[in-house]
Amino acid sequence: MIVFDDVTYSYPGAEVPALSEISLTLDPGSWTAIVGANGSGKSTLARLTDGLLHPSAGRVFVDEIDTTDYDRAWDVRSLVGLVLQNPDNQIVGTVVEEDVAFGPENLGVPRDELRSRVDAAIAAVGLTGLERREPHLLSEGQKQRLAIAGALAMNPDYLVLDEPTAMLDLEGRSDVLAVLGRLQAAGTAIVHITHDLAEATRAGRVIALKAGRVAFDGTADQLLEDAELMRTLGLEAPPMARMAAALRALGVPAVAASSAEEIVEALWPS
Ligand SMILES: Nc1ncnc2c1ncn2[C@@H]1O[C@H](COP(=O)(O)OP(=O)(O)OP(=O)(O)O)[C@@H](O)[C@H]1O
Ligand SMILES: [Mg+2]
Repeated sequence: MIVFDDVTYSYPGAEVPALSEISLTLDPGSWTAIVGANGSGKSTLARLTDGLLHPSAGRVFVDEIDTTDYDRAWDVRSLVGLVLQNPDNQIVGTVVEEDVAFGPENLGVPRDELRSRVDAAIAAVGLTGLERREPHLLSEGQKQRLAIAGALAMNPDYLVLDEPTAMLDLEGRSDVLAVLGRLQAAGTAIVHITHDLAEATRAGRVIALKAGRVAFDGTADQLLEDAELMRTLGLEAPPMARMAAALRALGVPAVAASSAEEIVEALWPS
């Protein structure tokens, strides 16, 4: 479990805290989406999960380890894989495979296992063939995939991804979501920060932040059905949710739906 216990975080010199009095629990194996307007505190929350930032007040625990416990910092890093919003901030290797190997190498993973982990992570994000490429020569989307591969190679129990699909094309997005789905099926907890409510519907639980506080904690359908809440949170409903709402307004029964298939099924039951 990742536990936020009454966490407040202020950046040095900032007048207002980026996060205020956050208490929440993220369960092993769960898939949680974190949404919210720009500046609502999503990235700050992500950086607190693996000890990259320490709370100004309150505490964060990862499987009962306090993230401020200096002696256990590597334990926390090995449990929580964090993919930062800007992949450039995360690239450390001079070539792709070296970059992906960096984390597990630091964890002391033996040589032969390292090779297989790195190859599997590179394959999972579709970068096979680019192992020897210098990271700065990759496209932005490829860099984003590289950052995800680096986190995957750590075999984390919790994978926290800060807008991992922001720079990806449609195919890249669905590739990444498929990878996340497979990981979750294998037991990894996914914490997916996204602006895209359509992507958030994949999550069992959606947490919305507003001005550094938890303003909603429930299912994607509950959130999407509450147009007023969506507005106050500064969120835009995805096209399929807007269509479902329009159909409900026309009296088409119970289209909760977020996918085109569900809408078709509601209109023309098979
Ligand atoms: N390094 C920093 N120093 C000072 N203030 C910061 C820093 N990073 C973020 N902030 C401030 O903290 C607040 C929360 O920022 P954060 O980056 O967590 O938001 P976000 O929800 O991830 O936004 P976005 O959707 O734009 O990525 C904002 O008011 C932001 O201006
Ligand atoms: Mg952010």
